[in-house]
Amino acid sequence: MAKFSLPANSRIGEGRTHKAPPGAKRVKAFRVYRWSPDDRENPRYDTYEIDLDACGPMVLDALIKIKNEIDSTLTFRRSCREGICGSCAMNIDGTNTLACLKPIDEVKGAARVTPLPHMPVVKDLVPNLDQAYAQYRSIEPWLKAESPPPPDSERRQSVTERAALDGMWECILCFCCTTACPSYWWNGGRYLGPAVLLAAYRWIADSRDEATGERLDALEDPFRLYRCHTIMNCTETCPKGLNPARAIGRIKQMIAERTG
Ligand code: SF4
Ligand code: SF4
Ligand code: FES
Repeated sequence: MAKFSLPANSRIGEGRTHKAPPGAKRVKAFRVYRWSPDDRENPRYDTYEIDLDACGPMVLDALIKIKNEIDSTLTFRRSCREGICGSCAMNIDGTNTLACLKPIDEVKGAARVTPLPHMPVVKDLVPNLDQAYAQYRSIEPWLKAESPPPPDSERRQSVTERAALDGMWECILCFCCTTACPSYWWNGGRYLGPAVLLAAYRWIADSRDEATGERLDALEDPFRLYRCHTIMNCTETCPKGLNPARAIGRIKQMIAERTG
């Protein structure tokens, strides 16, 4: 009979607890996932107690405070601190989101912070996104046109044509959606996932792009596109309020209409 068991190093242990400074009145605990490739230890949760009266309002503020004042070994990505770069994507309290946009006050009790799920971990809260970026490259995310632009101006769009890109150009490639998608968890090597499919549709919907047929051909595949089963986790979790599931639906519809 088949026997299923998890490898021993998949168990997350309890790590160190860093107590709040004496006299702190508003104490919040952050249970943070820790793992390093440099030792052979299992992952663990370290607990950091923070004095909220001496901390900014967002979860990223708490992580920066931990790194600056308590434990410089904690590793995470961040850059803009205002929801633009997508670097600080992680799982907070069970939901994929941007740490810089997540108010600490919205998390009840101890805040559990882990890397984006179902991606290999580089260290601590840093996921390896190589596969997702390679998939993004594969959809050729740039304008493709054979016809030359007008001699005296750029390629123009009407207001309506430009508006057709709303809800897509805002994507910051944080991959919160992709790593929340069960289909991507199980078939990530072959299914492109919601972030990349949203990006693909952004170019399909661009009135200046002349490669629509070629782009649809490349997506018409049981794995690359059709692993999406409209579970909607992607749309629910997007910290920018975008709707990748709708974009995927539109790609499917365009393929159905051209073959139907
Ligand atoms: S709607 Fe599609 S892409 Fe979005 S979570 Fe569900 S299966 Fe994944
Ligand atoms: S659609 Fe939203 S969740 Fe997905 S990568 Fe773009 S901004 Fe991030
Ligand atoms: S730090 Fe740039 S999105 Fe959070």
